[in-house]
Amino acid sequence: MAVMVTGGTGQVGAFLSKSLLRSGQEVLVFDAKPNLENIREIRDRVTLVEGDVTNLPSIVETIRKYRVETVYHLAAVVVLDSRENPLKSANVNCMGTVNVFEAGKTTGLKRIIYMSSSAVYGRPEAYGREVVSEDDVPRCPIDPYSATKVMNEVFGQHYFSKFGVKTLGLRLAATWGPGRYVGFTGAFNDMVRRLAIGESASLPPDFAFPGAQLRWLYVEDLGDLLVHAGTVGEGSIKRRLYNVGTRGPFTPVDFVSTLKEVLPDARLSVEWRDRPTESALSVAGPSGLDIDCGRFYEELGYHEKATLKSSIERAIAFERARLH
Ligand SMILES: NC(=O)c1ccc[n+]([C@@H]2O[C@H](COP(=O)([O-])OP(=O)(O)OC[C@H]3O[C@@H](n4cnc5c(N)ncnc54)[C@H](O)[C@@H]3O)[C@@H](O)[C@H]2O)c1
Repeated sequence: MAVMVTGGTGQVGAFLSKSLLRSGQEVLVFDAKPNLENIREIRDRVTLVEGDVTNLPSIVETIRKYRVETVYHLAAVVVLDSRENPLKSANVNCMGTVNVFEAGKTTGLKRIIYMSSSAVYGRPEAYGREVVSEDDVPRCPIDPYSATKVMNEVFGQHYFSKFGVKTLGLRLAATWGPGRYVGFTGAFNDMVRRLAIGESASLPPDFAFPGAQLRWLYVEDLGDLLVHAGTVGEGSIKRRLYNVGTRGPFTPVDFVSTLKEVLPDARLSVEWRDRPTESALSVAGPSGLDIDCGRFYEELGYHEKATLKSSIERAIAFERARLH
């Protein structure tokens, strides 16, 4: 019995696959354009299928051939690419996700854990409050990417209530760590990477608002959390959609001071801003809008093992090891 990870060679998928292997599970990576560098350490321990989620028969065939019971659906066209290619993002993010739900209905999968995003919440002024939770209906998603995630959530709930497909949607706060060095969070990861390998770097302006409320999980910690989401008993699941991030928020000031504690000689320049940039205003967290993630921990019984410091230490060790 294998666990299938669509988009399994992306930033999150590669770390999730490593966590799944550590937990003793058989892993099938399903990706349209495999990034072999991201799965370098585990390439010989996973089954890699080059496949496209827009092709329903190939998803069903793969699930049957490898006797897949659980699917983690991560394949997506993400933020900037989605803005550049709205048609592609509608095909992959919308139709690809419905295909995965439909494949679950056809084959009787045990669970489908699919990735939504805190991007569904949009700008803070839509709420008139500083903290939002799963009870808040997403208002004004600001771009094609966020809109496709809202659409995924509606279909995920429908496949559950109408057909009994055990969908579980996770609204991820952004993830930080190795595996992505371009785009919005990529600029942040690139800063950490440069400092880790002894180069100088500056804190990107999008993350220089001290009032930001970040719940970003280090990507390795997210992998472990996702394993829990896939294995927790069905009886613990009280809702089909959870916010996912660190249990408590941290600010960019916390991140910078912890980074300097771990790397006292880091050549990091920081210019704090008194308000978020226009681009950060559309992203919950960097905008100052805090997303309550407590229910995932309380209802699903998950215990956070990592601290910000331990995550930064592992990120630095990972980046240094990748140099060789
Ligand atoms: N990384 C984050 O900060 C973050 C935050 C919120 C939500 N998410 C969600 O988590 C998931 C994983 O994100 P990521 O950062 O790892 O993205 P990523 O871009 O690094 O990886 C996506 C993967 O999907 C694959 N893919 C794209 N189109 C495909 C298709 N048609 N068929 C099969 N595979 C395809 C790509 O080749 C890539 O390997 C996405 O659904 C994303 O929306 C990520």
